[in-house]
Amino acid sequence: MRITSALVDPALLDLPWHLPLEDWPADHLVALPQGISRHVVRFVKLNDTVYALKETRERIAEKEYDLLRALERIDFPAVKAVAIVTDRVDSLETVLITRHLQFSLPYRALFSHVLRPETMNRLLDALAALIVRMHLTGFSWGDCSLSNTLFRRDAGAFAAYLVDAETGNLHPRLSEGQRREDIEILRLNIFGECLDLQAAELLHEAIDPESVVDDIVARYERLWHEVTYEQEVPRDARHDIEGRIRRLNDLGFDVAEVSLSTVDGGYRVRPKVVDAGYHTRRLLRLTGLDAEENQARQLLNDLDTYRAESDLTDEQQAAHRWLTEVFEPVVRAVPANLRRKLEPQEIFSQIIQHKWLLSERAGRDVGMGPAVQSYLTDVLAHKPDEQAVLGVEIGSV
Ligand SMILES: Nc1ncnc2c1ncn2[C@@H]1O[C@H](COP(=O)(O)OP(=O)(O)OP(=O)(O)O)[C@@H](O)[C@H]1O
Ligand SMILES: [Mg+2]
Repeated sequence: MRITSALVDPALLDLPWHLPLEDWPADHLVALPQGISRHVVRFVKLNDTVYALKETRERIAEKEYDLLRALERIDFPAVKAVAIVTDRVDSLETVLITRHLQFSLPYRALFSHVLRPETMNRLLDALAALIVRMHLTGFSWGDCSLSNTLFRRDAGAFAAYLVDAETGNLHPRLSEGQRREDIEILRLNIFGECLDLQAAELLHEAIDPESVVDDIVARYERLWHEVTYEQEVPRDARHDIEGRIRRLNDLGFDVAEVSLSTVDGGYRVRPKVVDAGYHTRRLLRLTGLDAEENQARQLLNDLDTYRAESDLTDEQQAAHRWLTEVFEPVVRAVPANLRRKLEPQEIFSQIIQHKWLLSERAGRDVGMGPAVQSYLTDVLAHKPDEQAVLGVEIGSV
């Protein structure tokens, strides 16, 4: 027997590898909800970690292992590969081991009672967002379906994860044809899955399989368009670029950078959309400022727009200039007696927010100076120190 793994838990070696997964004794296994699959999949618990084991052909396991590792490196929402076990006795099939995704539900488990159409909509939103994210990273799935997705509850909505990467391929970027092909497969699979649910009387009577399919494709297309379309804006329309970034943030996408190329009288704007969690890390790397994710996002949006406007190509140099010429002067403009109220990062991001509101009202970019003054006198001065500490209105406790 041979085990390939980045980090082996030695307890894995003691499992009954000489037996087909199907015949493993129950004391090794844990029963957890599981989607429909061609291969045998079993869950095993070792030292408080649950693993998913899938018996499959060696070549397929290797490919899936490599792909899952590659997806992990780019922080893509997918299950994490742990190891492959090959060369088992009696020519038993190779086993791919992944870490069980905690609190995850296969769609069949979600449909164990008939889902309300509204819940179904949120499920489809999560799947559409997963596929858009996937296509942005250059990953073609080849088998988009509800069975190959895991869902986790996420503050009233769902977050979707890829579970089965067997048919996937990672490219530098996807062509229009590769994207279309994935969406055609999605159509077929979802339609089939809905018919199955209908046959089992698990589909809400108001839900029609055909319209579910049209609906998910429409959601995907809308999101894809918003995330990728190239936009031309006039030269002085910094405000329009901010508006686009805000819409993307509202859709749950983060913008890593905005590329601007000059066209007659303006810019062609193309945002680079990435996963969440990214901003804190990028801000820290570029400026040394440690901020919460949403604060970091606002600070970086400002930095990127600053960089695009000042024609600085070097990211590091632009970040340094932004820090000393934009961020620090704004923070220094806050009188000492007001500085206790909020952290500098929070003050700065509130100022950007405030500037946005003023600019919306004025229908043009009002500029940093006036925004800072207005924020200090109209907003910050009225906040009690304690509010920053307690996060509550004094009068309401
Ligand atoms: N790491 C994991 N965490 C949680 N559940 C998992 C994990 N790996 C597999 N599963 C469960 O096992 C099911 C089957 O896995 P998978 O889709 O990889 O099998 P498959 O046989 O390759 O599927 P297919 O028939 O689509 O080829 C999944 O739907 C999921 O419910
Ligand atoms: Mg599968």
